[in-house]
Amino acid sequence: MLNGKNILIGITGGIAAYKICELIRMFKRANANVRVVCTPNALNFVTKLTLQNLSQNEVGIEEFDLNEFKPEHISYADEADIMVIAPATANTIGKIANGICDNLLTSIACAFKKPVIAAPAMNCGMWENKFVQENIQKLKNAGYTILEPESGYLACGYEGKGRLCKLETIFDKTVEILNSKKNLAGKKFVITCGGTIEEIDSVRYISNYSSGKMGIALADAAYEQGAEVILVSTVNVERAYKVEMVKSANEMQIAVEKELNNADCIIMAAAVADYRAKNIADHKLKKTESNEFTLELVKNPDILKGLCEKRTSDKPVVVGFCAESEDLIKNAKEKILKKGCDYLIANDISRKDIGFSSDFNEVTILDKNGGIKPLQRAAKTEIAKEILKEIYG
Ligand code: PMT
Repeated sequence: MLNGKNILIGITGGIAAYKICELIRMFKRANANVRVVCTPNALNFVTKLTLQNLSQNEVGIEEFDLNEFKPEHISYADEADIMVIAPATANTIGKIANGICDNLLTSIACAFKKPVIAAPAMNCGMWENKFVQENIQKLKNAGYTILEPESGYLACGYEGKGRLCKLETIFDKTVEILNSKKNLAGKKFVITCGGTIEEIDSVRYISNYSSGKMGIALADAAYEQGAEVILVSTVNVERAYKVEMVKSANEMQIAVEKELNNADCIIMAAAVADYRAKNIADHKLKKTESNEFTLELVKNPDILKGLCEKRTSDKPVVVGFCAESEDLIKNAKEKILKKGCDYLIANDISRKDIGFSSDFNEVTILDKNGGIKPLQRAAKTEIAKEILKEIYG
């Protein structure tokens, strides 16, 4: 299952360290080459000799080995296909999240450019700690896969969330990541997300309820499958790939069109305002005696349509979304013709359990040749993978 794969296990100083002996055996039984690196504190819970025997490799602990020519942390990082940090203590998570490299394990993590899985285990109070959670979020934003701890009886005597997740969970996730196809490697995706922000004056704007979740899910899925990704976003999000922040439809259009000739695929998941204020006041507009206020609006550019008109070949593949509250498929069929895109993803935004702001969606994929494929309600993360599969197989 893991023939020829190089797995680097990082063990930190928590009681669950003893469980990792069995994890090493599981990886070895699956034919992986396993190397282990420990923080000095991990050796309070498990011996170097045990780890060395199980992994059949030297165990790394000290950062500076005077017998080695190449810096050790770089050679560990170069050699491994994946790094699995388990158990990951609050201390090590905090160091990695903040770029601190004060031992071999944290130095390797800092230099590591391939997938990292971290399986935290700690006392439940520590897990709930605000700073620990902020650090976990930083790791997630940087592309780490976090396998959350489970609830139950903890070695410190407390009951709560903090136990290392099951070894099978760590094993299965490692296999999934190592065997996942990077079938979008070499492709460049530009994906938009969020509702555009059209200013009225210095304090007010027109926008909509788009959270950006659908576009972010698509960007994450494309990135996981090896694509280079630019997310053109109106919502603030930190990711390992490039995020270009924009506000208005005009700004979004400039950011997207800049990539028209370089991109392989452009996906417009953003909810773009059709109109903007004709004049934007540079101060706060004052209330007047009148009971009425008229705001003059002008049409925004249709970014999606413009992309389709301006491309000079069948590259990039252009994908639009279609947000409708009635006659979804009828309107989507008309819209794909009007916009001229290759695919249109239709979703019903009148439903509360999908669409705007929800973690879920239910969509119908239309293509320019008349094909129609409905996808059942599922998490946006799953819908995103299905959409990419439909486009790239
Ligand atoms: O962000 P979430 O909370 O996750 O919600 C996701 C979503 C509901 C916003 C998303 O799934 C979605 O439907 N996005 C498209 C919303 C929209 O603007 O739909 P539309 O039918 O009005 O526009 C059709 C297409 O033209 C869209 O791809 C849109 O990005 C694009 N468009 C629209 C107007 C405009 N001036 N320029 C455009 O490019």
